[in-house]
Amino acid sequence: MAKPYSRAVHLSKTQVDFYNENGYIVLENFATQQETRSLQVAAQSILDAFNPDEHRSVFSTKDQSSTSDDYFLKSGDKIRCFFEADAFHPDGSLKVHKNLSINKIGHAMHELDPAFKKFADSTKFKQLCSSVGFKLPRLVQSMYIFKQPRIGGTVQPHQDSTFLFTEPDSVIGFWVALEDATKSNGCLWAIPGSHRLGPLSRFKRTADNKKTYFDPPMPKYDLKGSVPLEVPRGSLVVLHGALVHYSEDNLSDASRHAYTLHVLEGEGTKYPSSNWLQREDGKDFPTFTC
Ligand code: FE2
Repeated sequence: MAKPYSRAVHLSKTQVDFYNENGYIVLENFATQQETRSLQVAAQSILDAFNPDEHRSVFSTKDQSSTSDDYFLKSGDKIRCFFEADAFHPDGSLKVHKNLSINKIGHAMHELDPAFKKFADSTKFKQLCSSVGFKLPRLVQSMYIFKQPRIGGTVQPHQDSTFLFTEPDSVIGFWVALEDATKSNGCLWAIPGSHRLGPLSRFKRTADNKKTYFDPPMPKYDLKGSVPLEVPRGSLVVLHGALVHYSEDNLSDASRHAYTLHVLEGEGTKYPSSNWLQREDGKDFPTFTC
């Protein structure tokens, strides 16, 4: 069994070669049990404080443009909760307790919540960013994904650069398993080498900032050769921005919590004003302070 990563996380040449060839790499034991537990506790506190009667915003990748409401579009520098599409009865009441109905929390916990900030703004993420070539890494987005038991929805095949585009393309996703991820509870699937396709579609805001759309429409990705990334709790999956990846419904009785952090290159790139995620406060995306 691999040793836990404590402070130093420099990828070896073999690991960097694997990442460049396949567009992803799995690092087991990236997060300690204490860290995964602290993020789960912090997420639970956010859910406990959330009033489900105030905002009923659904997150679903099946019809993402029509579920992009104001609450979603203004969440780039806030902490907000989004429901599963199947969370409600036809009369609008919740099928199960609100804490088991949320699809994800997003998108600025790494800035605003002490536990998430401590984990994201850390030496090991900073060193890892350096290992994969970032000069000025900017922490643009984080999400806590619940993949709830029985109602955790499919995430359609996509490239993260569709959603967090820079010119030139630079986004990398860091996906941390806070619980064991298996085929039965909806683990990630990836298509090795698909990052060579480059970004094929962008998720943009309309000019009036009220809606979103895909430009051009998302292609139907060929999923032949996709591999399941079944990983134990504490594992990190590094995802190239153009890698095609997805996850299936979670029809099991086990949740599959994960934390994702997305990083962009801040040096020599442009972040378009047409990207869906824009800060309301006008500040730059933060870089590491450690
Ligand atoms: Fe993704």
